[in-house]
Amino acid sequence: MSLADLPAVMEIENQAFSNPWSVDMVKKELSQDWSTVLLAELWTPRGWLIRAFAIFWLVHDEIHVLNVATHQELRRQGIGRQVMDAVIAFGRDHKCRIATLEVRRGNGAALGLYQSLGFRTVGLRPNYYQDDREDAVVMIMDL
Ligand SMILES: CC(C)(COP(=O)(O)OP(=O)(O)OC[C@H]1O[C@@H](n2cnc3c(N)ncnc32)[C@H](O)[C@@H]1OP(=O)(O)O)[C@@H](O)C(=O)NCCC(=O)NCCS
Repeated sequence: MSLADLPAVMEIENQAFSNPWSVDMVKKELSQDWSTVLLAELWTPRGWLIRAFAIFWLVHDEIHVLNVATHQELRRQGIGRQVMDAVIAFGRDHKCRIATLEVRRGNGAALGLYQSLGFRTVGLRPNYYQDDREDAVVMIMDL
């Protein structure tokens, strides 16, 4: 991702979450060596359009996934899975041992995606999300 991609990424982010990341939060990820923002682009009559993204950190031998979203009109078409497959491949290429993430307890779509990829639940962080105090499910996948 480059700065020029910010508007498209923010459009997806703002559609996807009730408490979305700010522009500055996404921008910050672009400046950190350990962070990657991976984009999924689809060819359309208007050219290549960004349709999903994942933000993750490479920390020692671990991939930590912070954010994943697919454009709301293109969900359930396998794009989220392809993005996460690329995150997992990145981790394996970098000799990581595990991938970790937190997900809202009530986010059935994301839980379904991660479970279908092989993530397993290893814990619960009660009242984790500041806006509504929803619990976070902690998931891990062995790479
Ligand atoms: C979670 C999200 C990224 C999934 O993206 P997507 O492109 O729709 O996912 P895919 O089409 O690749 O689905 C892959 C698998 O995930 C699961 N899944 C996806 N959407 C689902 C839903 N609404 N309900 C249950 N399972 C779902 C299924 O196992 C699916 O496989 P299947 O279609 O063969 O059954 C998307 O719903 C999204 O952007 N949600 C809003 C943002 C968000 O909550 N991000 C996660 C933060 S932790």
